[in-house]
Amino acid sequence: MKVLILGSGAREHAVTWKYSKSKRITGLYIAPGNAGTGELGVNLPDVDPENSEQVIEACRKYDISHVFVGPEAPLAAGIVDELKKAGIPAIGPHKSAARLEGSKVFSKNFMKSHNIPTADAVEFKDTVKFETYIRGLTGPVVIKKDGLAAGKGVLVSSDPEELIAFGKDILKDDTLLVESCLEGYEVSIFALTDGKNYKLLPVCADFKRAGDGDTGLNTGGMGAICPVPFVNTAILNEIEEKAIKPTFKGMEKDKLSYSGILYFGFMMTDEGPMLLEYNVRFGDPEAQVLIPLIDSDFGNIADAMLNSNLDEYNPRVSNNSALGVVVAAEGYPGSYEKGIPVSPIPVYPEKDALIFHSSTSEDEYGKVHTGGGRCFTCVGIGPNSLKANARAYEAVKGVKFKGAWHRNDIGKKFFTNDQ
Ligand code: AMP
Ligand code: GLY
Repeated sequence: MKVLILGSGAREHAVTWKYSKSKRITGLYIAPGNAGTGELGVNLPDVDPENSEQVIEACRKYDISHVFVGPEAPLAAGIVDELKKAGIPAIGPHKSAARLEGSKVFSKNFMKSHNIPTADAVEFKDTVKFETYIRGLTGPVVIKKDGLAAGKGVLVSSDPEELIAFGKDILKDDTLLVESCLEGYEVSIFALTDGKNYKLLPVCADFKRAGDGDTGLNTGGMGAICPVPFVNTAILNEIEEKAIKPTFKGMEKDKLSYSGILYFGFMMTDEGPMLLEYNVRFGDPEAQVLIPLIDSDFGNIADAMLNSNLDEYNPRVSNNSALGVVVAAEGYPGSYEKGIPVSPIPVYPEKDALIFHSSTSEDEYGKVHTGGGRCFTCVGIGPNSLKANARAYEAVKGVKFKGAWHRNDIGKKFFTNDQ
C-alpha cells in the first residue's frame, strides 16, 4: 500500500507516524509535509494540496494506492471529487459533504432538518438588519462567519459594539449566523465512516483559548486530552442516540455520505449535549492525542473505510490516556515570525511521549526551523491523564526556540474526577 498524505501540520505528522507503523505500507509520501514527516516518509514540498493537478500527477508518479486528506481547505475545494474522477481512492468527503464544515449556514440547516440538538440561530446578509437585531438583544450571543476561517470566524460576546464590529467585518464578503450562547464543557468526538457504517473513537477535548484558565483569544487549539475523564458510557450513549445516529441517517438521506472522518464538536449543557459544529476531518490538536491511542494497523482501518466494511472491523484502542500541549510562536494567534531556529529536540520512548511538528522545515545542515504559529505538539502518554500530563510537560521542556510559549493548564479542568 502506497499512501499520499496531504497537509503539513502536527495532525498530519501524527497521521504519518501512524501509517508508518502499518505492516501494509510500501511507500509513504507527504505533500508538502514538514521536518517531522520527512523522517518517516518522502516529503513532496512542491505539491500544493489545493492544486488537484499537482496532487494527481504525484499519485501517478508514485503509484499511490490512496490519498489521506488532512486539512479542510483541499476538501472544501473538491480534491476528493477530482481524485475520484482520476480513479484514485481518497479518505475524505466530496465537495458537497465538505459543506458540513465549510458552511455554518448549511450545517445549521442540516442539524435543524434532522432534529439534531443545537443552538438556535438566525442568518444575516444585511448590515442594517443585523445591527438592529444585535441592539435589541440582552446577554451574550455567538457570531459565526458562514465560510471557513481557521478557528477565527467565531465571536462569543455580550458587548453589542464588539459584536457589531465583528459582524460588519464578516458581512463585507460573507453571510453570518447569530447563535444563542450555550454553557457547559466542550468535547470532540470522531467517527470513522465508510459511507454506510461508522465507528466511534475515544472522546477528546481541545483547549481553544490562548490563555491559562480558558482566557484570551480563540486559537486553532492549544492542547488536547483523550479520553475525557467526565464522559462515561451513559453520556456517550446519549450523544450517540441524539446526535450521531441522526447525523449519519441524515447524511444518507441527503446524499452526503463519504469514506473518511467526521468530527462532532459538542457543548455538554445542563439540558444535554448540543452540537456546535461538524468538521469533516481529524481535529488538530485532537489527532495528536487520539491517534497514539489507536492500536490497530492504520492501513487496515483505511482499507475498511475505503471498502465499506467498517461494520466488520472494530478498531482496537489502548486503555492509556494521552495529553498534548502545543508549543507556539511568540505573537500567535496574532502575527508571528517564521523561520526561527529550533534547538535539537530530545527523543523519548514512544510509549511515553511523542513530539509532532507543524510546518517546520529542515535546512541543509539538518537544523529545524519553525514555519507556523502552532509549531509543535508535545504528547504525553500514560495510564491516566495526570501521568500523561506530567510526561507531556516534561517533553515541552525539550522544545526550545526563541519566543516559544505554551499553556500551563492543559487537561487540568478535567482532573478532579480522574483518579
Ligand atoms: P465552532 O467553530 O462552531 O465550533 O465555534 C468555535 C468555538 O466557539 C467553539 O469551540 C466554542 O468554544 C465556541 N462556540 C461556538 N458556538 C457556541 C455557542 N452556541 N455557545 C457557546 N460557545 C460557542
Ligand atoms: N481543534 C479544532 C479543530 O481542529 O478544528
